[in-house]
Amino acid sequence: MRLTAREDDVTDAWSRAAFLREYVRAPFSVAAVTPSGRALAGLVTAPVPHRGDPVIVELGAGTGAFTAAVQRRLAGRGHHLAIEINERFAGVLAARFPQVDVAVADAFRLREVLAGRGLDRADVIVSGLPWAAFTAARQDELLSAVAGALAPAGAFTAFGYTLFRAAPGARRLRRALGDHFEEVVTGRTVWANLPPAFVHICRRPREPWLPSPGGGCRAGAVGAGR
Ligand SMILES: C[S@@+](CC[C@H](N)C(=O)[O-])C[C@H]1O[C@@H](n2cnc3c(N)ncnc32)[C@H](O)[C@@H]1O
Repeated sequence: MRLTAREDDVTDAWSRAAFLREYVRAPFSVAAVTPSGRALAGLVTAPVPHRGDPVIVELGAGTGAFTAAVQRRLAGRGHHLAIEINERFAGVLAARFPQVDVAVADAFRLREVLAGRGLDRADVIVSGLPWAAFTAARQDELLSAVAGALAPAGAFTAFGYTLFRAAPGARRLRRALGDHFEEVVTGRTVWANLPPAFVHICRRPREPWLPSPGGGCRAGAVGAGR
């Protein structure tokens, strides 16, 4: 499946203007003045398998920088759930990507949102969330939810800005990732991104997987989740 030019052009002037407007409204939640670029999106979404029907969950999708990359990799397969707290961004996503299941919700309700769709786990979870802005308790709570919702052979990716790599929130996140995943690989800086950023790729969740309450009917995955 090919995306239309409009779906694919997620860093167009309109998206950048919308991002800036939403940043002014909610700087700590949006946490960026411009959408991520294609090079970063490629690294964040690299664990999305090229075969099977995986369940892919995207947290903090914004105007769709990672959404477009996930859709390119899925090419019409699987179930792509995008969770976005900002209603205006969610509206943009739903219009731009009709094939994506967009939930206007707080990422902290991940298990509930999955259960509401009859999904009991995700094969890959990609994050666009502003982790460094969350308190230690919130980081830990959300990472528990992420690790607990991920298939044992699944992968979780999160990005950070290189400029703030040594900041307390970013260092705390790196430690917390190690508490929740057996393997955390931190990639090189993507200098082409504005601002430059890097990606954590996490595998082997330490949390035992527990079915979501009410979940259980899993969209059959052949890729990362097996
Ligand atoms: C740094 S922007 C990244 C957007 C997009 N993924 C990108 O890379 O261009 C962070 C996004 O996370 C969303 N967000 C922040 N807190 C959230 C939460 N608790 N639940 C869901 N989305 C959240 C914001 O509204 C924003 O769209």
